Amino acid sequence: MDNRISITDLKAKKQRGEPIVMMTCYDYPSARLLEDAGVDVLFIGDTLGMVVLGYDSTIPVTMDEMLHHTKAVVRGSSCAHVLADMPFLSYQASRDEALRNAGRLLKEGGAQSVKLEGGVHVSDTVRFIVDAGIPVMGHIGLTPQSINQIGGYKVQGKTPAAAVRLINDAEALEQAGAYAIVLECVPAQLAATITERLTIPTIGIGAGPRCDGQVQVFHDLLGLFDDFVPKHAKRYAALGPQITEAVRAYATEVRERRFPTEKESFLSGNGVFSEAAKIA
Ligand code: KIV
Repeated sequence: MDNRISITDLKAKKQRGEPIVMMTCYDYPSARLLEDAGVDVLFIGDTLGMVVLGYDSTIPVTMDEMLHHTKAVVRGSSCAHVLADMPFLSYQASRDEALRNAGRLLKEGGAQSVKLEGGVHVSDTVRFIVDAGIPVMGHIGLTPQSINQIGGYKVQGKTPAAAVRLINDAEALEQAGAYAIVLECVPAQLAATITERLTIPTIGIGAGPRCDGQVQVFHDLLGLFDDFVPKHAKRYAALGPQITEAVRAYATEVRERRFPTEKESFLSGNGVFSEAAKIA
């Protein structure tokens, strides 16, 4: 049995004023690397639809895709908390369906908790899942699964009325039993107010420095793509160009017959090949 970071450990971090480090993680090799780097929460976000599977949005992501990637992340880690996203329409149609799908992410996927998007209007569903023993992280502010309703990837909570709605959403999720809440793309002052009002941790992405933790998308942080860098992302490496350069060097060496050399080849023992040639 793995000894993983639990939701109790994450909540205790807020009490101690110790920031929670969360990062999206979609496969076995990155789970190993992120865990070695000390990330607390490996999060299989439904952003995998966009950054790994090449969809235009998170809407097409299925439960099977989430399960496939969750299992790989679990296999690549042993101490980090593994959090799996509930994809679009896996929890909206009915509370029973939501519970069954949340349960699959734990039973089949091996995650320790699930995340779903929405505030007041999903709080009954959150309570239903939590009452069944499944820890739930909420997610408010910019909620990409509602992109067709929101009308674009925009900062949320900018008017007084919208800010009050988000405070109400956060408090409804806490009362429903959520153990933490992602605040995505909300003004920093609003995120700080929500963080102070809640006893559970807030995890920010584009929500300023005063949340109890931060989450970033693997591909943004490591600079895998050049086409779009969100304002909230900081690049700590430029792995995309490094990968292209490395593969270009490999391709050149293959074309110029400089790879493989004797060092990367297996050679027969003395006389073995000439003996074999006689038999053949
Ligand atoms: O799916 C995801 O990666 C997310 C983060 C942006 C918080 O929900």
